Amino acid sequence: MNTVSLFQTLPGNESDEFACALTAGLRAKPYQVSPKFFYDAAGSALFDQICELPEYYPTRTEIGILAEHANDMATCIGPNAEIVEFGAGSSRKIRLLLDALHRPQRFVPVDISGEHLHASAGALREAYPSLEIRPVVADFTRPVALPPRMPGHGARVGFFPGSSIGNFDPQEARRFLRQIANQLRGGGLLIGTDLVKDPAILHAAYNDAAGVTAAFNRNLLLRANRELDADFVVDNFAHYAFYNAALQRIEMHLISLHSQNVHIGDERFHFAEGDSIHTENSYKFTLEGFHALAMEAGFRPAATWCDARRWFCLHWLEAPA
Ligand code: AVJ
Repeated sequence: MNTVSLFQTLPGNESDEFACALTAGLRAKPYQVSPKFFYDAAGSALFDQICELPEYYPTRTEIGILAEHANDMATCIGPNAEIVEFGAGSSRKIRLLLDALHRPQRFVPVDISGEHLHASAGALREAYPSLEIRPVVADFTRPVALPPRMPGHGARVGFFPGSSIGNFDPQEARRFLRQIANQLRGGGLLIGTDLVKDPAILHAAYNDAAGVTAAFNRNLLLRANRELDADFVVDNFAHYAFYNAALQRIEMHLISLHSQNVHIGDERFHFAEGDSIHTENSYKFTLEGFHALAMEAGFRPAATWCDARRWFCLHWLEAPA
């Protein structure tokens, strides 16, 4: 099987990178493209809408856990911390954490989308005038250079909410966690994981009645039309999401509804009826499975907070010095 790694080294500019990744992903079967390309401005707005859907429980469940246990989390993290967030996600989550922390010194949000990042950094600066905010525009699926640590600061602590770790396959997740365990030596990582549960609940969360997840998935093709001079007819591709129990993951695909040709720039791609473009994996975890993964990466699981239904949890993973 020809896999396109999330860690693949590609050229600098975002559109060039998308062009390389998409064409490479469509030249070999199974067709696939990394979910990191969902998040242009339109895709980020659709993702924000997903987080509000009645079927999409992860966001509100994680916010509930943060709200309930932020003080315990702050005790684990300690005073004067420097927080590095991987992905400039929902500002509600980071605010719940910042509000509970004791004199946080610096916040470093890392995100692939500069626009999104600077907008949320601006809003946080107004709300937390004494906090130093140092956004870093970078693809966190690759090693990211962080600003040098300041003398007098407390621990450097990663924040990776949303179960975005579920986008990596287990080998990539291990590699990512190992890399950040190194960067966070002497501190730790607060990370959210979506848990294995009744497949019907998982299925509904990725097949919402309003069709927002379908629009989010299909936006990938619209993005290719906007940025890459492609001519996808979006209605010719169906959103398909299902729970793969054997691999403990939701898979999202775009299925070609007809035999069709599509151009991306000068290159032509043929899709037979039923051909799939695999656009995302969203792995689900058991507590034991996740702790084993974290330990293999060099972290020491030290605390876990779940909701009452055990649908989602946050873990405090210590990174030995
Ligand atoms: C942002 C990767 C956590 O996997 O649930 C939501 C993305 N995809 N609906 C997830 C997503 C479809 C989301 N993550």
